[in-house]
Amino acid sequence: MSDFKKYFPIFKQNSNIVYLDSGASAQKPSCVLDGMSKFYSETYANIHRGLYAFSEKSTEMYDEVREKVAKFIGANSSSEIIFTKGTTEAINLVASSFGRLLKTDDEIIVSEVEHHSNLLPWKNLEETVGVKVKYLPVLNDGVLDYDWLKQNISEKTKLVCVTGQSNVLGLKNDVKKIVEVAHSVGAKVLIDGAQLTVHSKVDVSLWNVDFYVFSGHKIYGPTGIGVLYGKYELLDVMPPYQFGGDMVESVSFDDVVFKPVPSKFEAGTPPIAEVVGLGYAIDFLQSVGMDEIEKHGRVLTEYLLEKLLKIDGVKLLSSKDSNSIVSFVIDGVSSFDIGLMLGQKGVCVRVGKHCAEPLHKRLGVESSIRVSFGIYNDESDVDKFIEALNKVLNMLR
Ligand SMILES: Cc1ncc(COP(=O)(O)O)c(C=O)c1O
Repeated sequence: MSDFKKYFPIFKQNSNIVYLDSGASAQKPSCVLDGMSKFYSETYANIHRGLYAFSEKSTEMYDEVREKVAKFIGANSSSEIIFTKGTTEAINLVASSFGRLLKTDDEIIVSEVEHHSNLLPWKNLEETVGVKVKYLPVLNDGVLDYDWLKQNISEKTKLVCVTGQSNVLGLKNDVKKIVEVAHSVGAKVLIDGAQLTVHSKVDVSLWNVDFYVFSGHKIYGPTGIGVLYGKYELLDVMPPYQFGGDMVESVSFDDVVFKPVPSKFEAGTPPIAEVVGLGYAIDFLQSVGMDEIEKHGRVLTEYLLEKLLKIDGVKLLSSKDSNSIVSFVIDGVSSFDIGLMLGQKGVCVRVGKHCAEPLHKRLGVESSIRVSFGIYNDESDVDKFIEALNKVLNMLR
C-alpha cells in the first residue's frame, strides 16, 4: 500500500512532507493531472453546442463521466447525477430547490455532528421559509442517538440530513437505519458523503437514500466539481436552482420550457475538464478497490490510535471505530500551537473546529487536532507524525 505514493507527483517533489490532511482535500494522482492536461491539449471545446469533432468528443467524455459516477455510487440512472461545484453547492441546491416545496411548520432534522455545509443551508430555510430545524443529538461515544430520532420524527418531518461519516470523529453513521426511520413517516433523507465517498463503498440504491452529495477534490479529483445524486422522481418535480444557457428547451418572453433533469440543474458552461478529472479519479479509486481502501484506512487508524494513546494527556474525540479520521486534544496544550509547530516540521494536520463548531461545543472542547489519511499514507507517516508530536510537546510543556 505504501507504494501508492509513487502515483502522486507532489510526494516526488516534496519527499519530506507528511501529509495527514486528506479530509480537507486529497492530493492528486498522475492519472487525474495527466488526464486533464491531455483533455485540454487534445480535445477541449465547450459541450452540447458545437457540431464539430472537438465539441462532440468533449460532450461524449462529459456524459461518460455521468454514467461512471452513477455506477460508482449505485444510482439507477445517469439522469439522477447532477454536477455541482462541490458538496456545499449540492446541499445548497437541494435547500434552495427542494426547500421551495416546503412550507412553514414543516420540519427538517439535522444531526449535531454536521459540517457547517450541512447545517447552515437548513438554518437559512428557517429564516426564509419558516421551517423548523431539529437537532439529532450525538451520544458521548460519538454515535447518533437513534432512539431520539425514532421518538422525535413525525409526519411534519420532510427531510433528515446527516453525514455519512463525520469529518471530525471519523465515525460512519447508520445510513440504512436513518433511511428506514425517515421513510416510515414519509420524510426524505440527504446523506452528506463528503468524507465517506473516499473511504468506503457507497450504494445509494441499496441504502435507498433520496439525496447523496460529495466533492471531487476529496476523492483525488480536481477542485470545483461535486455531485448531487437525487432520486429521479424528486429531481423531476424540484424547480431549477440557477438559470441560464443549456438548461432550456425553448425560451420566449412569455414562456420558458426547461430541459429534463439533469440539464435543468446545470445552467451555464459547466466545469468540463473538472468533470473529466473526476472520471479519472473514480477510475483510480476503482483500480484500488473500495474494500481495499477501507481496509487500508482502518489498519492505519488502529496503528495511529495505539501510538497516540501512549502519549500523556491525549484525549480522543474519535474511537476505535473511526475510519481514517482521528481527532483529539492534548490536556493543557493549545491545538493551534501544536498544529503550527507540526507545520513547521513539514507535518500537515488540521487544527480548529473543522467547520463543525456545534459538535466541538457538544463535546466540550474549544478546538481539536485532526489527522486524516489518504491512500498514499502508510505506517511511516504515522511514525513521523508521532515523533514530531512528541518533540513539539517537549517544547510546549
Ligand atoms: C462532512 C463534510 N461535509 C461537507 C463538506 C464541504 O465540502 P466542500 O468544501 O468540498 O463543499 C466537508 C468539507 O470538509 C465535509 O467534511
